[in-house]
Amino acid sequence: MYQFAELDWTGSHDTVVVGIGAADAVETGLDTLFNGRVKSLIQSADISTKTGEVSIVPTFEGNIKRVLFVGLGQRNDSSVENLRNWFGKVAKEIKGRGFTDVAVALDTFEPGVASLFAEAYEMATYEHPTYKSAPKSATPDVTITLLGDVNEADVEAGAAYGRGVNVARTLTMMPANILDAVALADYAVDLAERRGFSHRIIEKEEMEALGMGALLAVNQGSTIPPKLIVLEYNGAGDDAPIAVVGKGVTFDTGGYSIKPKDGIVGMKGDMGGAATVLGLFETLATTKPAVNVLGVIPATDNMISGDAFKPDDVITAMNGKTIEVLNTDAEGRLVLADAVTFAKTYEPKAIIDVATLTGGVLVALGTEVTGCLTNDDSLYEALETASRATNELVWQMPYFDVFIKQVRKSEVADLNNSPGRYGHMIFGGAFVGEFVGDTPWLHLDIAGTSERSAANYLGPKGPTGVMVRTLASMLEGWKR
Ligand code: BES
Ligand code: ZN
Ligand code: ZN
Repeated sequence: MYQFAELDWTGSHDTVVVGIGAADAVETGLDTLFNGRVKSLIQSADISTKTGEVSIVPTFEGNIKRVLFVGLGQRNDSSVENLRNWFGKVAKEIKGRGFTDVAVALDTFEPGVASLFAEAYEMATYEHPTYKSAPKSATPDVTITLLGDVNEADVEAGAAYGRGVNVARTLTMMPANILDAVALADYAVDLAERRGFSHRIIEKEEMEALGMGALLAVNQGSTIPPKLIVLEYNGAGDDAPIAVVGKGVTFDTGGYSIKPKDGIVGMKGDMGGAATVLGLFETLATTKPAVNVLGVIPATDNMISGDAFKPDDVITAMNGKTIEVLNTDAEGRLVLADAVTFAKTYEPKAIIDVATLTGGVLVALGTEVTGCLTNDDSLYEALETASRATNELVWQMPYFDVFIKQVRKSEVADLNNSPGRYGHMIFGGAFVGEFVGDTPWLHLDIAGTSERSAANYLGPKGPTGVMVRTLASMLEGWKR
């Protein structure tokens, strides 16, 4: 899709994308396309230099048919975040108007923005899968020529970030009758084989042998077998891996602590953490950071039947800890418990869990901020640095002993899975922490951020693929 060329105003393209600041001197080559009238077109508001505004103007001369101007104002708002959004806006214009031959004068924006453009283009032009019977009208092939001094590897990396996000979006969008635990495992194996990752699926019998009583309890009411999906990316020889564990509940009814009917709709997305892990691996295949990454996904649905687990049940997790089940809808922490214990058998140097874990994080932080818990401040700092670059906001919640004490409060077991309503985002994380132990750990509750209710510059409404880019960026900058 991408071609590369020098910036040449006499070249021939249907559309050239140009960033234009209010105080810019107009390049002669560009001005010639408009018979020397760019400044007067700005004065007549036919070209807007307002920050982030797009104007599409047919040329008067030359072999470039039209210029898509992006206003850059006084050029002091060109943050990474804004540029990414404006590139997303441009990508939507290209797609929406059916432009197929587009050149982008990247240097008219900022130096070194090629990867940002590719990332935004991939994300913004994404469409969710649908199952409509009417065939979709074919989208034309688009050729994008990046003009100027562009490093091809940067473009590939940016596109890989966007592709990883889109993998996560697609998986999250898929309904649970189509994407159940078996299909999710099949997808993971296929991804691993296409991209050259080692992989392993732990089947139900092996889970029984390993004593994964928590994951098995959640699966108990299901007719679909559970799968523990294990992927390994090797970028650092025999170094200890960083484990990334994603909640893969393909559908969450709540179990016997059943959700209200309006709360059930949308619970196909309860494997958003798993989707993040698979999207991350899609990205890693291209960006190839110098670390080892272990991906672990406990996959099951949470269903009701005569066999299902119940409130008051006491179950035993893989690490031997017993758990009093107070709420079968607090199932995410149960599947994560065994997945974390399993990940620890690889002696990881850090564990990052990603999960649509609690409605509590929505109440606490809303829909734009991922809630975090950590036992390691410098690990959190690395996450924050990456999240600033990707503009996926994160916020650290307190992991005080008072919360840990409540997770350990039970008359019959070591732990309980639902200490109560107040602060329950933290209880969810603290429960997982009981299985992590001393390993440096980040808990990312994406229940508020894994889907959005309206489109933005970088994609449609629905699944966001949140944390794919942040984790990819964090792993690229890994220094421990
Ligand atoms: N999957 C839900 C969390 C969720 C809520 C995800 C809304 C996406 C949107 C999770 O398994 C759950 O039901 N959590 C309970 C925990 C409670 C029972 C302690 C919740 O948040 O109410
Ligand atoms: Zn639940
Ligand atoms: Zn859930």
